[in-house]
Amino acid sequence: MQPRLIMKLEVASVREDRGNVRVITFRHPLRPSLPPFTAGAHVDVHLPDGRRRQYSLCGDPADASAYRIAVKLERGGRGGSAWIHDGLVVGAKIPVSAPRNHFVMDEATPRGLLIAAGIGITPILSMAHHLNGTKRPYVLHYFARSRSVAPLLEEIAATIGPRQVQYHFSDEADTQIDLRSLLDEREGDTQLYCCGPRRFMEGVREAAQAWPENTLHFEAFQPLVDEGFTPQPFEIEIPSKGLTLRVPADKSALDVLRDNGILMASSCEIGTCGSCQCGYSKGEPIHRDVVLSPQARKTHFIPCVSRATGTLLLDL
Ligand code: FES
Repeated sequence: MQPRLIMKLEVASVREDRGNVRVITFRHPLRPSLPPFTAGAHVDVHLPDGRRRQYSLCGDPADASAYRIAVKLERGGRGGSAWIHDGLVVGAKIPVSAPRNHFVMDEATPRGLLIAAGIGITPILSMAHHLNGTKRPYVLHYFARSRSVAPLLEEIAATIGPRQVQYHFSDEADTQIDLRSLLDEREGDTQLYCCGPRRFMEGVREAAQAWPENTLHFEAFQPLVDEGFTPQPFEIEIPSKGLTLRVPADKSALDVLRDNGILMASSCEIGTCGSCQCGYSKGEPIHRDVVLSPQARKTHFIPCVSRATGTLLLDL
């Protein structure tokens, strides 16, 4: 995997929004434009302690003058959002990676059904901008607990015509909708794009069972939680290096690769960003990421979280 460009970008503006969300705009301190991004892309924000956090870009991909992210404060989280809420000020210069996209739109298909819940609106909003720019029809269904905690409502209203968006608030009975009835029938060649909490997306996937797999696109920002899973040791073989390595139950394949001098890109290390993905050619992986599509899982593996039974041959 190519190393990513890391730029020191200036915090051009900070805006507080509903639902404990901060909307941050980054610009290059010297140049008028930034590396381009496609709808659904994210950037890595580098924290002062060296850790990185991924945030979806919610601005218009046609506007290369700025990157905009919206970050929900998670006090019990891993520290990234707390730093962004407590420590980030206008004028600060922050290392930010060039955008990467694991939530790519199907450009061959005209019609889009966009479904977002809460802060999951961020990549979906960039998709709405893109569909506007390419004059393709779409509808957004935006779900939130309440209007009072739903982020980016102003941006949605400024971007999407009132007939193209439907709001569903848990505390407003007349706005609620049954996912099954919404997804019962697929209109023409519609592609579905969904981002939100894991449980919400599981509900959408279940309701869209009749849709072909290649029409469903999900973006997860929470790791897989499966308390019943007990990691077992397995082996990885790297034919290009003549190595066979044992992955003990208490280590990840990524750790073992690094311990053996194999440099691997990584970022989230919880299976949500896709930075560490590599190919495999033989074996039985146990996929534990939330980023690879069913198709990609046939050939790719996420070594920071996924495991295998027996021996897995990695293409490195
Ligand atoms: S480092 Fe993010 S998926 Fe592995």
